[in-house]
Amino acid sequence: MKRMYLMLGAAALALGGAAIVGAQMPERNVWGGAYTAEQAERGKAAYAENCAACHGETLSGIDVAPALVGSTFLSNWNNTSAADLFERIQMTMPLNAPGTLGGRTVADIEAFIFQSNGFPTGQLALPPTPQMMTNVRISAQKPGG
Ligand code: HEC
Repeated sequence: MKRMYLMLGAAALALGGAAIVGAQMPERNVWGGAYTAEQAERGKAAYAENCAACHGETLSGIDVAPALVGSTFLSNWNNTSAADLFERIQMTMPLNAPGTLGGRTVADIEAFIFQSNGFPTGQLALPPTPQMMTNVRISAQKPGG
């Protein structure tokens, strides 16, 4: 019985911890600058190596591989988070070798995709794990602009 209480206590602590982490992450938007210029530069090279064969050098898509820039792409991802796009890339891409890219490479490539869609650079790099960017919203249009 005592063990039961201990477990409940641990669960409560874990929940409290999650709440604190959540509270420390204010809502941000890609239009406020969610990656750095150096990161996008690294991402450009990683994209050329891992993605361009299918999605095209200019990200405009080839055959069945869709464009990763422009209005269709942005409307697909409008109102999702940087974490959603991160997970989509890490779990399903490259289509011929999903799950092979490390978190840092995925973040770099995502930064390059953001840059290619006209989102501005910022002071902080996009982090290498999706849990750290659930608060970064992707909006097709610049909020209030
Ligand atoms: C072998 C070809 C191939 C490679 C390599 C590849 N992709 Fe894809 N990708 C596709 C195809 C085909 C689709 C559409 C079908 C699907 O969603 O699985 C797609 C879909 C996507 C989507 C969803 C687009 C949307 O509008 O929702 C994203 C994002 C994406 N790819 C990113 C990447 C990134 C980043 C890389 C490099 C790490 C990559 N892909 C490498 C073929 C590829």
